[in-house]
Amino acid sequence: MSKKLLLKDAHIEGIRYFETYRKQGGYTAAEKALKMTPEEILEEVKVSGLRGRGGAGFPTGMKWSFLAKPEGVPRHLVVNADESEPGTFKDRYLMEFLPHLLIEGMLISSYTLGSNVSYIYIRGEYSWIPDILEEAIEEAKAAGFLGKNILGTGFDCEIYVQRGGGAYICGEETALLESLEGKRGNPRLKPPFPAVKGLWERPTVVNNVESIAAIVPIIDITGAEYAKIGVGRSTGTKLISACGNINKPGVYEIDMTITVEEFIYSDEYCGGIPNGKKLKACIPGGSSVPIVPANLLLKTVNGEPRYMNYESLADGGFATGTMMGSGGFIVLDEDQCVVEHTMTLARFYHHESCGQCTPCREGTGWMHKILKKIEKGEGKMEDIDLLWDIQRKIEGNTICPLGDAAAWPVAAAIRHFRDEFEWHVKNPELSQTQNYGLANY
Ligand code: NAI
Ligand code: SF4
Repeated sequence: MSKKLLLKDAHIEGIRYFETYRKQGGYTAAEKALKMTPEEILEEVKVSGLRGRGGAGFPTGMKWSFLAKPEGVPRHLVVNADESEPGTFKDRYLMEFLPHLLIEGMLISSYTLGSNVSYIYIRGEYSWIPDILEEAIEEAKAAGFLGKNILGTGFDCEIYVQRGGGAYICGEETALLESLEGKRGNPRLKPPFPAVKGLWERPTVVNNVESIAAIVPIIDITGAEYAKIGVGRSTGTKLISACGNINKPGVYEIDMTITVEEFIYSDEYCGGIPNGKKLKACIPGGSSVPIVPANLLLKTVNGEPRYMNYESLADGGFATGTMMGSGGFIVLDEDQCVVEHTMTLARFYHHESCGQCTPCREGTGWMHKILKKIEKGEGKMEDIDLLWDIQRKIEGNTICPLGDAAAWPVAAAIRHFRDEFEWHVKNPELSQTQNYGLANY
């Protein structure tokens, strides 16, 4: 059984409210942290090996140490709660059921970074959660854990919740900052990174909800103890939101030592695939990471089991960057059609492109058009090569990672499931009435 750090109290009735959270030991990590120096806390975070839980897996301690500290310029912590990656809903769960864990993590992080005004930028579609967060903020303030002179330390901290307007691109950290400043959410060129020039050109750390929540157990048990959980550079626990063709969709906390097979088939997690169907493929880290066929997903190319961690999921020669991604684990059974699935994703990325870069603005539209054509049985063999060519021209040629995120799923689908694309071309009539999965298994 995986160790639980974040969700250990999630089942307790009323844990959303300060009184119950406090009774369970809530805010003791904050009390401990406020007796430490910011440098000591930063060292604990570095030692913990915590990697950013939003998707990129960038070491949190390193990001914090990059924060510029020019004399007299305010600094900010911004929590990225614009969780919009298809298949990802772990931050929603944390904020809805354990808002004080986030607030406590923010207090410790704000103190460490020297942020007197911190923000939570939350996706517009999570319309019921800002009220939960604002209530928790008020409760924490009333108890002296936010506001002026917190616990007599002289440290002041206010937290504000800002609702997004429902654009996926505002989850990209610089687009988020533009939006928070009241402008259209267009990504900025990096560098400069937000750690140097962020919100209103001030040094800013942008961290995911889960990353900030993880600061609480790190201070609680120490960075060294946190680093002992997990394996290699995949330290601590990770929240996974599991969905698709599984018996038990939901949010699970894993310690990154379990195998993918165990995660899919064990009753503790996904509980297997409904109706005894075979596993076809999986997108292990949210829609931006490449789709992986079952044979590569359950075993590495060397025949070793594949584990649910950053290193193991990225290994195998099929991945570009991290495969753990945002922890949105999407399972496809044998009946699913990869072409249809890829087309749906292409439509999403086309719709969400902000339009600043030509390869992304035009390329996502073309990919969607061609995929639609192939899926409807109106494609030609050359269209598959054209699709491949377009995705290659997008990758690496755009301002922000949305371009790559749109290109990678298409590349992986063609690389691993070219036969399905060809089946649609060769069987125009069948592909209008049947999907590939149902027709071929
Ligand atoms: P990134 O790799 O560009 O940056 C990661 C973080 O490290 C950023 O905060 C960046 O500012 C910081 N950083 C990197 N190098 C730095 C340096 N030299 N100095 C200072 N700071 C530095 O990745 P990004 O754009 O933040 O995230 C991309 C990932 O987000 C994708 O891989 C995808 O998995 C994930 N994603 C998650 C979504 C969600 O809903 N959770 C939505 C869409 C994408
Ligand atoms: Fe906008 Fe796409 Fe360019 Fe990102 S890659 S800045 S979403 S056009």
